[in-house]
Amino acid sequence: MMKNSKAIYMRAANVLPGGVESSFRHLDPFPFYASRAEGSKIYDVDGNEYTDFLLSQGAILFGHRKREIEEAVVKQLKNGANTAIPTGLCVEVAETISRYVPSVKLLRFANSGTEATMHALRTARGFTGKDKIAKPEGGYHGMHDYVLWSIWAPEMRGSEKRPKTTPFSRGVPKAVAKTVVVFPFNDIEATYDILHKERENLAAVITEPVLANVGCLVPRDNYLRELQKVCNELGILLILDEVITGFRLARGGAQEVFKVKPDLTTFGKALGGGFQMAAFGGRKDVMMELLSSDESWPPKKWPTKTYHAGTYNAHPVSLAASAAVLKLISDDRVYSHLKQISKMFFPGLQQLIDDRHITAQVASFGSMGHIYFGASEVRTARAALSTGWDVLGKWGMECLVRGMLFGHPKGEKMFVSTAHTREDIERALVVADCGFRAVCT
Ligand SMILES: Cc1ncc(COP(=O)(O)O)c(C=O)c1O
Repeated sequence: MMKNSKAIYMRAANVLPGGVESSFRHLDPFPFYASRAEGSKIYDVDGNEYTDFLLSQGAILFGHRKREIEEAVVKQLKNGANTAIPTGLCVEVAETISRYVPSVKLLRFANSGTEATMHALRTARGFTGKDKIAKPEGGYHGMHDYVLWSIWAPEMRGSEKRPKTTPFSRGVPKAVAKTVVVFPFNDIEATYDILHKERENLAAVITEPVLANVGCLVPRDNYLRELQKVCNELGILLILDEVITGFRLARGGAQEVFKVKPDLTTFGKALGGGFQMAAFGGRKDVMMELLSSDESWPPKKWPTKTYHAGTYNAHPVSLAASAAVLKLISDDRVYSHLKQISKMFFPGLQQLIDDRHITAQVASFGSMGHIYFGASEVRTARAALSTGWDVLGKWGMECLVRGMLFGHPKGEKMFVSTAHTREDIERALVVADCGFRAVCT
């Protein structure tokens, strides 16, 4: 069943730590290796088929090999891959993003969500002249040193109301901890107190609208709008990290859904339609921070304004994919399909759980969701992190061997795409139930 994957793994382990190219992708005893993907399905090197609810960690909105995206990419490839010279396509994509997400007046492109949050934070620091940033406990914003804190440690430090900045990775300089303030998502009073105390030093607050690293933690009691008010009152920039939610939850992202107006926004994943593309942008005065008044080279005065560059920024091939994605989502039927399929899938999972009298919550928002085993209502990141992730992993593996990739079996949340059909969901629910029976009863 997994002969070829095992053979590749034996070689892979000699050249790649753990035989994989991202620490998260390893599976015990060995990962399966993909050979191709089409629509809602992935096929591995042994010919096994999986219905895909991982969807490139949320990057795929239309299923794999969406014709319009593929054609746009192939057409662009024939005009050359990358020149590192501006293109008209870049302007077209920027204009469309700004039209769909009105808080984004000016933007710049990057190649990954990590880069987008790194640049957004640096821009905020440059604009305000302050060094610290604040992030929620449990929030994930990519891999750079300024955000790899208080994500998921065996134990979070400090009290839930006064979390301490906790390292998530070795190799991140300890000195950086002093520049990172952590607050509890969904607790506006505690958030206010923490931000108020640090207000003189804080350049920006960065948060995901829905905390997706800890499953699917939805903001309660108008948390995001209250957070925006607090940031406005205290003179701190609000950066909404829409790397997952942008263009997925709505054409205008989560900010359209929750009616918040951040100062800056970051995008990635869905924007690239499976290709490496990301962007950050927002208020005109803040983004003008990137434009040096001295355009001579080398600049006469150092440092110039905040620096943003990159060989592959606004890569034409990825931009062609983005232009196709943005055109596709101009059709409302994209969001009605996602809604219909999501409504069948996530409540369907909860029904199976309830029928089996299992204690678990299917938390979902739009086309993304997660199962919190061992809990019936999760409201905070710490509560989310103390649910049954081990059970989730076992359930995921039971389902994987039955042909369902329900997120990453290690605990990555689930996504649906417009390529998922009613039949896919019916089959998925049958398999999910086999998994529940195997693991929970
Ligand atoms: C909210 C959020 N921000 C940033 C990132 C980093 O994006 P990337 O993996 O493209 O660097 C991720 C990745 O999962 C994310 O979920």
